[in-house]
Amino acid sequence: MKNIKVYNTEQLDNVRQSGKILSHTLVLLQESLRSGISTLELDRIAEDYIRSSGAEPSFQNYNGYKYSICTSINEESIHGMPRKDKILKDGDIISIDVGVRFNGMCTDAARTFAIGEISDEAKHLIQITEQSFFEAIRGLKAMSKVGDIGERIENYIRVNSTYSIVDRYFGHGVGEKVHEDPLIPNFIPPKKSIPKLKEIVRTRLPLHSVIAIEPMINMGVKDLKTASDKWTAITVDGKLAAHYENTLIILENGVEVVTLTNN
Ligand code: MF3
Ligand code: CO
Repeated sequence: MKNIKVYNTEQLDNVRQSGKILSHTLVLLQESLRSGISTLELDRIAEDYIRSSGAEPSFQNYNGYKYSICTSINEESIHGMPRKDKILKDGDIISIDVGVRFNGMCTDAARTFAIGEISDEAKHLIQITEQSFFEAIRGLKAMSKVGDIGERIENYIRVNSTYSIVDRYFGHGVGEKVHEDPLIPNFIPPKKSIPKLKEIVRTRLPLHSVIAIEPMINMGVKDLKTASDKWTAITVDGKLAAHYENTLIILENGVEVVTLTNN
């Protein structure tokens, strides 16, 4: 894990502006949610807004992906593809993942939203997933270990719920590219896990590195399967899945979350 990039002041300012455009996109998407809208319409809203802000949707053309956002409904965890015939209805939950590139710098963030009235259980899943992110960044700063992140997420989830943490996908470095080193597990690697993972959790995050932390929490079992579209990752037991992600800059005494939507 010698490849963690650190960025200069100008690049970090572009990360901040990229994050601002992304958070505004998330707010606009949230305001656009209603029963009857298709996920393709949401994709169009996001793309138009990102481009009109002088930025680009960073997911487009990433590994052949054609869209600006990922839209994952109910048992879909991540990487759901926007479609004209995927129509939201009351009682659904939808995870929306957005990527922005501004002046060459990428940011990445996701939220899970409710459509109309949802069950208390579903509300709890969304809330716990979000809170696990904020637990993860507690005390995080330059030279913290990557493993501190997954440890805080897993401890929080274990104490507060019976939910499971997806361990097949990871958070990641972000910056000039959508995905950079290091991989960031959202969980504590089991004793028998691959040596690479054990090395990753011991890695320290340098000052002015940029990462995306993205807990994916399932109401049932942790396992996902890939749908026939070859992208969408779905829970194997068909139970609900939530996702929460932000991009942040590692600073001397803490972190700066650049994709928050409530400020
Ligand atoms: N946002 C996803 C992540 O957090 C990446 C999306 S993959 C894409 O890692 F192909 F949709 F771009
Ligand atoms: Co990400």
